[in-house]
Amino acid sequence: MQSSLPLQHNFSLRQLNTFGIEARAASYLRITAVEQLRAALADPALAALPRLVLGGGSNLLLTGDFPGLVLHIALEGRDILPGDADHVHVRAAAGENWHAFVQWTLEQGCGGLENLSLIPGTAGAAPIQNIGAYGLETKDMFHELSAFDPASGDIVKMKRADCRFAYRDSIFKQEAGRALIVLDVTFALPRRWQPNLRYAELAAAVAEQGLAAPTPRQVADTVIAIRRRKLPDPADIGNAGSFFKNPVVSAAQCAQLLQQFPALVHHAQPDGSEKLAAGWLIDQCGWKGRSMGAAGVYPKQALVLVNNGGATGADVQRLAAAIQADVAERFGVALEPEPVFV
Ligand code: EPU
Repeated sequence: MQSSLPLQHNFSLRQLNTFGIEARAASYLRITAVEQLRAALADPALAALPRLVLGGGSNLLLTGDFPGLVLHIALEGRDILPGDADHVHVRAAAGENWHAFVQWTLEQGCGGLENLSLIPGTAGAAPIQNIGAYGLETKDMFHELSAFDPASGDIVKMKRADCRFAYRDSIFKQEAGRALIVLDVTFALPRRWQPNLRYAELAAAVAEQGLAAPTPRQVADTVIAIRRRKLPDPADIGNAGSFFKNPVVSAAQCAQLLQQFPALVHHAQPDGSEKLAAGWLIDQCGWKGRSMGAAGVYPKQALVLVNNGGATGADVQRLAAAIQADVAERFGVALEPEPVFV
């Protein structure tokens, strides 16, 4: 079985993680058909190896060489499905580039995903961490997905409730769903589209252009311009987007912090808790633009850690730990990393 698979050994992952960190996989398999996945996991020797499922590598910190099997999901394909009276359904295979998929939906006249333009990574990774930006999360437009279950060899269909979506979280990051391998994702996009301008910065940028009734394309272009202004392009500077989640604290803790720090950036959550801007907390600790070895804090956005050239995963971890310690000491708030450490 193994011999028919294009298995590679001692494979460099540097081009496959947006941090641009050099690390090697003991075994590597690029998956371009579901049958290859089935064959690989039916092979006892391969199935027994520690496994890393890799998409666009944009939410990943490689802390060293990977001793097992990397399954690089490169499944391609996108379709428009009939949907229902209120929604058109669009489907992407897991290996499709997310941004290219979003732009394609817009070209097909299907608005709904434009606020998520320019997020690095693949379509298959979108539900895993419930990617979100500018007032929209994957879960808001999600219809269903297919995933391969290595335990049974079955392909399972999962609806929104099955995925247990939460802020940058889903069942796929939890014990119950960690082994599942996403194959394709379907979104339900509204036939009667309305711009989603809940995020104040996006609304202001749209208004500034004098767009009273923006089109999905215009909203996408505005999001793209904001992201280009604030966030480093991984093609130029290695990074994994926001390195920490925005911490959620109780209303009481937020009120206490506000007494001491009146400029604290916070947003009330539906359950009464408060989400704090981690970028603001880190910025206040003076980290913006600072470096430790080859790892640094992006000068235009303190929430983004960057590889200034030749950084190792350990360099990034050291910097992250120093930032966490400072924020904990100054604000009493624990910052949780967003990327998965491998
Ligand atoms: N801020 C500072 N200094 C900084 C950075 C931010 O004071 O260095 C303040 C800003 O002025 C603003 C607030 O913090 O008042 C929030 O900043 P921003 O709007 O840039 O958003 P964010 O909270 O830093 C989150 C997401 C991003 C997403 C944007 C827009 C998380 C962890 N990050 O960032 O997602 O693009 O909102 O919706 O939730 C990602 O997850 O990788 C990511 C880029």
